Amino acid sequence: MKKFLLALGVVVALTACGGGDEAAPPVDEESPAVDEAPTDEAPDEATAGDYDAESARATYEQSCIGCHGGDLQGASGPGLEGTGLSAAEIEDIIHNGQGAMPAQNLEDEDAANLAAWLEAQ
Ligand code: HEC
Repeated sequence: MKKFLLALGVVVALTACGGGDEAAPPVDEESPAVDEAPTDEAPDEATAGDYDAESARATYEQSCIGCHGGDLQGASGPGLEGTGLSAAEIEDIIHNGQGAMPAQNLEDEDAANLAAWLEAQ
């Protein structure tokens, strides 16, 4: 009986982690940053609050960093800071490629989150 309850607990815990996607973690992490760092970058993050910067960065490092460089400064591909492109345009480029850039095979959710983050850079 105890074992069964334990197993149930594990399942519930896993479900809670796996299903608790989207906005919950970034809110916790960003609010102190906004309080403590009133200058420079904080406003950017605060206004465009509809992305998960951590997850976007992870996706970027997985799929884009090889061509676009470690600090979005560009490598074989152009730098991605301040492109003036909207999130929708960036998302389109991710899914369909552009010029010498091949289409990137990302989940819609990851592509949208990454595009929203890039738009704010
Ligand atoms: C194989 C190399 C490569 C990879 C991987 C790659 N890109 Fe690119 N990207 C390019 C090149 C090259 C261009 C320039 C394309 C052109 O307009 O000729 C480009 C252009 C872009 C542009 C347009 C920039 C501008 O100012 O017009 C965006 C936005 C972009 N990439 C985003 C991404 C994102 C996001 C990822 C990861 C999901 C990614 N790229 C992965 C090579 C790459």
